Amino acid sequence: MRAEMRHKDFIELHDYTADEVHELFELARDMKKDPKKFANALQGQTLAMIFEKSSTRTRVSFEAGMFQMGGHALFLSARDIQLGRGEPINDTARVLSRYVNGIMARTFAHKTVTDLAQFASVPVINGLTDLSHPCQVMADYFTAWERFGDLKGRKIAYIGDGNNMAHSLLFGAPKVGLDIAIATPADYAPDANVVAQAKEDAKAAGTQMLITTSIDEAVRNADIIETDVWASMGQEAEADKRHRDFEGWIVDPRVMSLATKDAIFLHCLPAHRGEEVAAEVIDGPQSVIYDEAENRLHVQKAIMYALMKQ
Ligand code: CP
Ligand code: NVA
Repeated sequence: MRAEMRHKDFIELHDYTADEVHELFELARDMKKDPKKFANALQGQTLAMIFEKSSTRTRVSFEAGMFQMGGHALFLSARDIQLGRGEPINDTARVLSRYVNGIMARTFAHKTVTDLAQFASVPVINGLTDLSHPCQVMADYFTAWERFGDLKGRKIAYIGDGNNMAHSLLFGAPKVGLDIAIATPADYAPDANVVAQAKEDAKAAGTQMLITTSIDEAVRNADIIETDVWASMGQEAEADKRHRDFEGWIVDPRVMSLATKDAIFLHCLPAHRGEEVAAEVIDGPQSVIYDEAENRLHVQKAIMYALMKQ
């Protein structure tokens, strides 16, 4: 079986090579086509899923994915485990490693996930942090790969907040050969360190990268248009200010008309119709949001298989 990874963890797409990402895509495609072939792939294994934030897709797709491969997933709300009462991350990681075969974590601080990875002897998967959301971007680019085939020379435009999604899209684009343009309001640009690192990766891969405050400039000739919420989880206190600052930052039919005519629309969900995206777009013929959501399951099964298969 392919997709044997040299990595212990799945924390950031930056850590993976283009070949490794491609192998994961091929494995995910095989798993999607014939899930029964992998029915015992992780038999008897347990995945601990730590959640500091809410989730629908991540929780359900990881849990269903483990079950489909003969394993079991354990939902651990940070509110209920001792981590939430201040038990150190290193003790949590070391203890969990004695019981389970992998840990998936959704946290506020990115360091919580990297610390878990440092101290756990089992694989750790980033299920979203304030900094990044690599499992989602694997699903997003896999969805584009299914639609367009080789992504070399294609372009993605992301419109909106320079948040965890923007960061992972930036890290992932050079790995799949995509040119990328990110348009944000001036005060909401992506993290400077992420941009600098992604720029180096793009240069090495020979792909284009643009950070701009112009929606029109970003979207021109794009094959993939993506957006995300104006206020992410943990930014509830800023929601009113963000609603004022993001006024007009909407992917609507005019914006879609600037892209290529067979462009697809992506959104990690949950979405706010009438805010970052118009209902005509997200519910229209170019939208592939439900394929994208389904593909979380397939790419994460491939990731778990690659990291956890014994
Ligand atoms: N896109 C995503 O990660 O969704 P959830 O917050 O529902 O897991
Ligand atoms: N940027 C969003 C993504 C949700 C899946 C958030 O962090 O809330």
